[in-house]
Amino acid sequence: MTTPTRVIAPLTKTLEWRALQAHAAAMMSVHMRDLFAREPKRFAEFSLRDGSLLLDYSKNRITIETVQLLMNLARARHLEDQRNAMFAGAKINTTENRAVLHVALRNRPGKNGKARPVIVDGVDVMPDVLYTLKRLRDFSERVRSGAWTGATGKPIRHVVNIGIGGSHLGPMFVADALKDHQRADLSVAFVSNPDRTQIDDVLRNCDPAATLFVISSKTFTTAETMSNAMIARLWIADALGEQSISRHFVAVSTNHHATVEFGIPEESVFPMWDWVGGRYSVCSAIGLPITLACGFEVFDQFLAGAHAMDRHFETAPLEKNMPVILGLLGLWYADFFAAPATALLPYDHRLKLFPFHIQQVDMESNGKGVTLSGTPVETAAGPIVFGGGGSDSQHSFFQLLHQSPRLIPCDFIAALRPHQGIDASRDLLLANCFAQTEALMKGRPAGELSNTPDTLKTHRAFTGNRPTNTILLDSLSPFALGQLLALYEHKVFVQGAIWGVNSFDQWGVELGKELAKSLEPALNGAGQVANRDSSTAGLAAAYLEAKRRSV
Ligand code: F6P
Repeated sequence: MTTPTRVIAPLTKTLEWRALQAHAAAMMSVHMRDLFAREPKRFAEFSLRDGSLLLDYSKNRITIETVQLLMNLARARHLEDQRNAMFAGAKINTTENRAVLHVALRNRPGKNGKARPVIVDGVDVMPDVLYTLKRLRDFSERVRSGAWTGATGKPIRHVVNIGIGGSHLGPMFVADALKDHQRADLSVAFVSNPDRTQIDDVLRNCDPAATLFVISSKTFTTAETMSNAMIARLWIADALGEQSISRHFVAVSTNHHATVEFGIPEESVFPMWDWVGGRYSVCSAIGLPITLACGFEVFDQFLAGAHAMDRHFETAPLEKNMPVILGLLGLWYADFFAAPATALLPYDHRLKLFPFHIQQVDMESNGKGVTLSGTPVETAAGPIVFGGGGSDSQHSFFQLLHQSPRLIPCDFIAALRPHQGIDASRDLLLANCFAQTEALMKGRPAGELSNTPDTLKTHRAFTGNRPTNTILLDSLSPFALGQLLALYEHKVFVQGAIWGVNSFDQWGVELGKELAKSLEPALNGAGQVANRDSSTAGLAAAYLEAKRRSV
């Protein structure tokens, strides 16, 4: 399918944008306390349920009119057409001339047993997708049952994934979130950093004869991943001999030539496709460490959950569409209230890595300076995403959320049911979660501080009127986790579509890579620090001097 070309008026010049500007000016002085007092059915009005997810967006600085105006903007920006183009396999990643089809990775066979065809360049990609899933199933079952052994015949007891960015954050967050499905006798670890300390820490706890490395790299050229892969390769070769490599390494990559050159037999290479972006790849074979750690059935339920959210995004009317609502609310604050950032706050220890994953999904996707047509973006576009687990974060950065003049909209995420058995401490966890959204919304005016000395009143008052969304999962099942992931992926899509940026390239990471490549020889003694500014040259000189002193 070719990319739809449509002339879209500059965002901030549209009537819909101007209507929102005027409405925002009127909403600035409206307090959510008053909205809740006036509208007893606010929760029912501004909440949505889909499967095992509940989204409460009532604690936002919005009225029914706000939602209507935001929907008008979404329609004026042809959001539905843009969404449909992605699902149909159009090459919406125009700077790389690629389709964007992470949704195909979890496209499920329907009642007729066949998955809906997804056509790229005239070819249905679904047979390849389904065949790769079958390979993941077969391989993970062989490893988990002990049929696949290391070179000495020992069963695999340690899986070490080596990757970075999307080839690391996604599978690491999912494997950790589904830890209750992992087996005690099969550990899974994730290595990404070229700081050798990380891989050394991991390998210290592994027996080479029982260790399987998954080298995850779409390109198989990423410097950090290749450096760690070589360290792992030497570690196995030293312990078990060069001939053992093929039993201890598998790869996930589009670059078959490089994987084979590394010594990984073709049958141990799981494919990726150029229509899957790194940060959107956890549902591809990049999920292999999840299938090894938790079993294929668990991964399959996770894919089913992501697919359910894909269907919701594709078919629910915009007004009832969770990713659309979340995306538009984020845009409302970023563009009309100058909110510089957004916080992701999972009140669930198993979701502690979710903010790191979504940070890449969001900031690498929408942190762009130009629109699809190459003109400067008219708004700040992608927000700064940060976050951390609750209630821990209450005792670190929540102070700023409550009292700084900066407005930071927050998403609170929690599971209603405990992960195992009855867990009374969950009452405390969820009481904190709900109470924080209440405190951020209501605040505490100085006038209510009757027993506080006047000199302290301004210090102890809270303005409130700080927006939050709350997403409740029935339980942290693999299915609900898939829904949650896809919810955020599509939220990012919605915002990128309205801002008019390409959410699927990442040219901004290239310059640093290039400069590091040219500087490394100078730091390892193979070259000179030449043609660098005085700061970079000075830092390099300090490092070289320290190296000289330590020999
Ligand atoms: O440098 C950014 C990036 O390209 C990410 O988009 C990607 O997830 C990561 O590097 C890893 O890339 P690869 O899977 O090709 O090693």
